[in-house]
Formats: sequence, C-alpha cells, structure tokens
Amino acid sequence: MLPAMASLRAVLVLAVAVAAASSVAADDPDYSYVPGTKLGPDNWSKLSPKYSACNGGPAVRKQSPIDIVTKNAVPKADLDSLNRTYVASNATLINNGKEISMTFAGKPGTVSIGGKAFSLKKLQWRTPSEHTINGKRHPLELQLIHQSDAGTGEVAILAIIYKVGAPDSFYFQLKRKLAELAADRCSYGEQDARVAAGLVHLRSLEKRTGSYFRYMGSLTAPPCAENVYWNVLGKVRQLTQEQLDLLVAPLPAAAKQNARPVQPINGRVITFYNPPNSTISFEI
Ligand SMILES: *[C@@H]1O[C@H](CO)[C@@H](O)[C@H](O)[C@H]1NC(C)=O
Ligand SMILES: *[C@@H]1O[C@H](CO)[C@@H](O)[C@H](O)[C@H]1NC(C)=O
Ligand SMILES: *[C@@H]1O[C@H](CO)[C@@H](O)[C@H](O)[C@H]1NC(C)=O
Ligand SMILES: *[C@@H]1O[C@H](CO)[C@@H](O)[C@H](O)[C@H]1NC(C)=O
Repeated sequence: MLPAMASLRAVLVLAVAVAAASSVAADDPDYSYVPGTKLGPDNWSKLSPKYSACNGGPAVRKQSPIDIVTKNAVPKADLDSLNRTYVASNATLINNGKEISMTFAGKPGTVSIGGKAFSLKKLQWRTPSEHTINGKRHPLELQLIHQSDAGTGEVAILAIIYKVGAPDSFYFQLKRKLAELAADRCSYGEQDARVAAGLVHLRSLEKRTGSYFRYMGSLTAPPCAENVYWNVLGKVRQLTQEQLDLLVAPLPAAAKQNARPVQPINGRVITFYNPPNSTISFEI
C-alpha cells in the first residue's frame, strides 16, 4: 500500500473509533452491536449497573426485540386503532455512530394508547429488522418513538418493517440530506453528526395502520429500559435498495448492522389487532 493511502486509512480508522466512542453520553459506557465482543449485545448488562435491565435472562425481564410467532398471537378486537395525525415538522437527522435517527422541533403529533396520549419524539432506523416474524428478519425496521404526555416515562413505539422493492415516498425527501450525513461521517469527533433536514412531511407514516402486534417490552439499546408499548405493524412496506443503502451509508462499519438479537419472551402475551379490510403480510 502507498504510504499516503496507509495514512489516509489510519485517519479513517481513528475517525470511526472516535465516532463509536462518542455515541453515548460522556458518563455512559460505550457498547457495540458486534456479537462475541467485549462490548457486544450479550455483554451489555455487564458494562454498567445502569445497563442491568439489558440482561434478558431472568423470567421477570421484558426485553425487546422478540420473535413474533403469529400463530401464538391473541386476537383482540378492542385494541387501540393507532389513529394518528402527524404534521410536517422541521427535523434534524442525527448519526451517533450507532444508529441514524431523526428528531423534531415542536410537536409533530400524538398517538393514543389505552386512552393515554403519547407524543412523537424521534424516528430511528435499524438494519436489519430487530423484530423477527416467525423467525424471519427483514432488511429494515423504522421505529416511531412516542413518549407519554403524562410524564410517566412510558414509551410507545410503532415499528414498520420493510422489504426491498418499490420506492417509498417518505425517503425521497431525505435523499440529499442522508447523502450529506454520509459525507459528514469523517468530521464527527466529540459530537454526533447532525444535518438540518428542513420541513419533513410525515403524512406517509400515518397511513391507516390496520393490523399490528402489541406486546410490552423495552428499548432495544442500553439502558434497555422497560415500560415500552410495542406495536409492530402487520403490513410490510417496501423501499428500494438505493433508499436502504442511503440509510446505512453514514454509519461506521461496526454499526451498519445494528439490530439487537431477539430476547426471551418470558411468558409475555402478544396481542393482535386486525380490523376489517386491513392488510397483513404474514400468515396468521
Ligand atoms: C463478552 O466479552 C468477552 C470479553 O470481555 C468476550 O470474550 C465474550 O465473547 C463476550 N461474550 C459474548 C457472549 O459475546
Ligand atoms: C382519527 O383522528 C382524527 C383526529 O384526531 C379524527 O378526526 C378521526 O375521526 C379519527 N379517526 C378514527 C377512525 O378514529
Ligand atoms: C421551519 O424552520 C424554518 C427556518 O428556521 C422556519 O422559517 C419555518 O417557519 C419552520 N417551520 C415550521 C413548521 O416550524
Ligand atoms: C370492506 O371492504 C368492502 C369492499 O370494498 C366494503 O364494502 C366494506 O364497507 C369495507 N368495510 C369496512 C369496515 O371498511
């Protein structure tokens, strides 16, 4: 290798290492998605007392993601319709070296769960999907993270699973901004890389939800806090390979695959909502 190239590579390796180290708050220990390593998913609970909930072992734990076995899901006709209205909002795309996410200025919208209002706070993407359905992983999962307006700390997440196929209009508007985020990758050090995404239209994410699977679980990254209402939509959406590649490009190599392994179900019940005329992409 030419010396110039070697030193360029050293700079890149350093940049990636710094980025990985900076992804959690300064006083929180780092973690990674690389299986079988010191910081990998099976060791998260040992990295800090703050991460103790990440231990999926004891039967009391309600960790996420899980494998959804559709034939075991219990139909429940009176579950929430997940009816929601999101308004176009000024958004910021963030690369913290572990995941790509999007936050909003103001209040883009709410969803009602069990009669309680939860406000949309953040979108985050995982490749491949974190939830598996009947043991099968899909290429992408988008998680719409909502927080309880009542200040209880409860979280409601809507998960949309994608396969590669036709283009999804939501990602058209992010194309240039995601490319900017990827270009910014080498410059982040102390902080996360951020790109102002301007006004982002969220309407395509509020299409009539139809069927979904509901269970109680946790955040899928440290500190793995429980008290999360998971709602995994039953209709698989499509996006193109190019759109998928844009979402992965900004991440360092060790986080391009950032799905936590599935966790023990520990006796939890998965309920299933399937209103008339809704589409379901899985055998039930
Ligand atoms: C946990 O970390 C150790 C190194 O401290 C490593 O050898 C081991 O493989 C990791 N365990 C798992 C299950 O990833
Ligand atoms: C959904 O919510 C909107 C606004 O809150 C309301 O106008 C509409 O009637 C609701 N639709 C259903 C099916 O509940
Ligand atoms: C979005 O930000 C721009 C520039 O700061 C501002 O002019 C506009 O009013 C904002 N739009 C909304 C809906 O907040
Ligand atoms: C379901 O679809 C059929 C045929 O398109 C329609 O007649 C019926 O009203 C729909 N039912 C509901 C509840 O939307």
